[in-house]
Amino acid sequence: MPDTDKTLPSHWFDRQDNSADHYFYAQPRLVQHIDLATIDQLTEYYRHFLQEGSDLLDCMSSWVSHLPEEMQFGRVTGLGMNAEELRRNPRLTDWCVHDLNQDPNCPLDPARFDYAMITVSIQYLIKPIAVLDSLRKCLKPGGQIAIAMSHRCFPTKAIAAFQVLPANERIQLVKSYLEQAGYASSQFRDCSPQHGDPLWIVTGKV
Ligand SMILES: C[S@@+](CC[C@H](N)C(=O)[O-])C[C@H]1O[C@@H](n2cnc3c(N)ncnc32)[C@H](O)[C@@H]1O
Repeated sequence: MPDTDKTLPSHWFDRQDNSADHYFYAQPRLVQHIDLATIDQLTEYYRHFLQEGSDLLDCMSSWVSHLPEEMQFGRVTGLGMNAEELRRNPRLTDWCVHDLNQDPNCPLDPARFDYAMITVSIQYLIKPIAVLDSLRKCLKPGGQIAIAMSHRCFPTKAIAAFQVLPANERIQLVKSYLEQAGYASSQFRDCSPQHGDPLWIVTGKV
């Protein structure tokens, strides 16, 4: 299983708070992490990116999934750190609490999902390539992952790279994660609203 690429500076993956993540995520945070205009853009993106009836893995999930209300999906599995947040998420058909920094292996069945999403959370992973590699194995052949990013974060828990690199280099970094994790192709799209938090989406295909 690939770990963090040795060609990337190891200090990029340092965090101010390196304690086990379950301490930080013990309390539910029933808040939105991006502006409403940005959420609208994300939902609109999913409206075209996702296929109705497909099985979704909402990785690093919370109490909202930003999926278009009118679209029906098959299984929508959430993986996150706080059970209360996941229990309140109306789009999830099932969910699990799993710390991907402690164990980067996704504990779900291989080749089970059509799509995986990581929304405004990639900056919290200290072994992102290993995590993305394990998510790739949970996707069906031809499956896709969408990694949506903005500029807000919990600063003590985000890795240094997402605090020191400019936006274009953070986007390149995430593209390189996908390439090193074995995705066949990666693409970038700027979906930022005119007024609101930016929205940068990197996708990869199995
Ligand atoms: C900023 S919130 C984003 C939540 C949600 N994706 C959204 O769009 O609102 C960050 C999420 O990452 C999850 N997370 C953080 N560290 C994690 C870890 N080590 N393993 C799994 N999930 C983690 C938390 O449970 C939290 O729900």
